[in-house]
Amino acid sequence: MTDKKSILLIIGGGIAAYKCLELIRRLKEHNISVTPVLTKAGAEFVTPLSLATLAETQVHTDLFDLKNETEIGHIQLSRQADFVVVAPATADLMAKMANGLANDLASTLLLATDKDVLVAPAMNVRMWDHPATQRNIATLRQDGVLFVGPDDGDMACGETGPGRLSEPDQIVQAIQAVLHVKKGPLSGKSVLITAGPTHEPIDPVRYIANRSSGKQGYALAEMAASLGADVTLVSGPTKLSPPAGVRYIGIETAREMRDATLANLPADIAICAAAVADWRVKKSAGQKMKKSKDGLPVLDLAENPDILATLSDLKDNRPHLLIGFAAETETVIEHAKKKLKKKGCDWIVANDVSTEGNVFGNDETSIHIITKDSVESFEKVTKSEAAQHVLLKAAETLK
Ligand code: C5P
Repeated sequence: MTDKKSILLIIGGGIAAYKCLELIRRLKEHNISVTPVLTKAGAEFVTPLSLATLAETQVHTDLFDLKNETEIGHIQLSRQADFVVVAPATADLMAKMANGLANDLASTLLLATDKDVLVAPAMNVRMWDHPATQRNIATLRQDGVLFVGPDDGDMACGETGPGRLSEPDQIVQAIQAVLHVKKGPLSGKSVLITAGPTHEPIDPVRYIANRSSGKQGYALAEMAASLGADVTLVSGPTKLSPPAGVRYIGIETAREMRDATLANLPADIAICAAAVADWRVKKSAGQKMKKSKDGLPVLDLAENPDILATLSDLKDNRPHLLIGFAAETETVIEHAKKKLKKKGCDWIVANDVSTEGNVFGNDETSIHIITKDSVESFEKVTKSEAAQHVLLKAAETLK
């Protein structure tokens, strides 16, 4: 087939490396060819022979392999594939990537590539939780690296928690999402989503925030990717893992969210699902504020930028379809219609939060999709179903 895709698969040194043999088989079944690159540590867990047999091609292991430098060269190797996948990605490999080290073939290829990179981490739970690893992950996400996993569960080392390599099927799905080989109603469309709360610092340890869990925004991002879209998720702090194959940008404040959103235009569809804090402290304190007998501190507030309204007002780069969310407790549709006008967006998805108790953090919701001339209601749906209704309607509209 002419549209056969190819990936460069970098295999790090961890017990989970055995799963990459199955991964190669699955990818071949999906018409994706694999060029394996094995690190020195990876070769302690799987052999070049097994990889070469399954991939039906040569396995690359050594930066200073002269034959390859004349015939292929590491620059070309890093660029000839459609996409680079690191599985398993060890803490060490991610640390090298985050810091731009290039002292072996794998890290050199990762620094030299001009292609998207998907990382499937696998490591002991303590190594995953370590601040150094978390710092590296944040850097990599900032650099645009995509992630799938890790999964939560029992580990080969006997401990339990996050750190298990995602199953081959999950990794294949994430790869398909990025390569857009799985055609969906949003194939070829870019979708930009804001999600979660924002944190507005009062001092280095305190902040203004709200109860948003981010679940609806993350469900939208996951659904958009599975419908074939190229997805960027700009999110405030949440407890959720970013969906696989989605470009993720983590921010804290409303102003950072606005900047990241504007920096990721143009987009065919933008969905503002974030619960942006309305106010920030004008000047947050440099040091932790102390209690004083002389009285209470006064927080001098400033209004935060309205990201949805900012996107709506853009002259050149306005997303083709701009969707806002609104949580309402009374006369939901009437209030949402007013919000549609005020914000200048194309649709408002209104949540009825009056009867359900607290929609924040719940998996279920009731939504009304309000456009200039229609209202469609979906009662008691999961946030994933709500996302599907919104996105299928969006796909239909942009056809
Ligand atoms: O908070 P409010 O009801 O105004 O939110 C309505 C919509 O506006 C939501 O889509 C929310 O993401 C967006 N919004 C925003 N920036 C703000 C406040 C709200 O993008 N500062």
